[in-house]
Amino acid sequence: MSTVFSGVQPSGEPHLGNYLGAFRNWVADQHEYDSYYCLVDLHALTAEHDPATLGERTLDAAAWLLAVGLEPKTCTLFVQSHVAEHTELTWLLECTATYGELRRMTQFKEKSEDRKGGQESVRAGLLTYPVLMAADILLYDADRVPVGDDQRQHLELTRNLAQRFNQRYGTTFVVPEAAIPKVGARVMDLQEPDRKMSKSSGGDAGLVYLADEPAVIERKIKRAVTDTGSDVAYDPQGRPGVANLLSILAAATGRRPEAVASDYTQYGPLKADAAAAVVELLRPLQERYREIIADPGLVRATLADGAARAREVAATTLARARQAVGLLPPA
Ligand code: AQP
Repeated sequence: MSTVFSGVQPSGEPHLGNYLGAFRNWVADQHEYDSYYCLVDLHALTAEHDPATLGERTLDAAAWLLAVGLEPKTCTLFVQSHVAEHTELTWLLECTATYGELRRMTQFKEKSEDRKGGQESVRAGLLTYPVLMAADILLYDADRVPVGDDQRQHLELTRNLAQRFNQRYGTTFVVPEAAIPKVGARVMDLQEPDRKMSKSSGGDAGLVYLADEPAVIERKIKRAVTDTGSDVAYDPQGRPGVANLLSILAAATGRRPEAVASDYTQYGPLKADAAAAVVELLRPLQERYREIIADPGLVRATLADGAARAREVAATTLARARQAVGLLPPA
């Protein structure tokens, strides 16, 4: 059986992009593959965070993953920092990666340009976190990694590191492949449709959170930035605002954006239908979320069980990697 690994940062409230680009495919994959899903809380430390809320956010994100349909008896759901093997393998892989390839990562370049003081003042963790991501994946011998389009480059790095390590030290890791959905792989910010919807950047008005009330979803989509044209056409480069609404409606209704475009001649009805489709898509998830979050003890127990299962697999892979690089085993 193939193995799946993927993760989400508890860096903010989960949003529609996370669901359409990733979570929904995780739910489908859990029935077909041996699946590991992770709340990657260590990744959330690469940006400014509030220590008082990180734990709560992690628990909340886990509740959302259960609400969207992950089944703890079918897949392994756990918190990254509960499995120490992730950080140890990161070191072995950091000694495989080069400074040049990390510095060239698009996300690093974009995020360090956004910060005051540029690259000199960003956390070193922002440079090296793609290696932590590689360790996350390689520990579970995952050959399939369902992610949104924004993770394509990081997956390529993971493949390169796995191949380089295998060449240098003998076959140790499975070389994984990204599984990126055809529709919904890059949901854009509603207010800035040339940047992706993201927890850590962009204002509230540009994001549809999974927890948003129907009236809030309707208002956000109604106020979404469109383009100056008046007809409806799917043109992500030239008309990103309308293309984003078409993609959202298509992803929510299981169609292709090009086909959805032919149903509309004006923006108003497109926005109304996109909002209605998203409200209906999220309604059952929100109901389940409310039930699950009412019993945080159960979520914690699920995560404890998941971490114990994850540790067993991770420890075996790490031992293999330690041996491959020649570290003296403890007596
Ligand atoms: N806009 C998106 N469209 C489609 N997929 C997306 N994903 C994220 N944003 C979109 C996918 O969701 C999974 C979890 O990713 P994440 O936790 O890194 O999401 P984020 O919302 O982008 O969070 P941050 O903290 O703001 O992260 P960065 O700093 O990466 O932008 C992934 O599979 C991702 O592809």
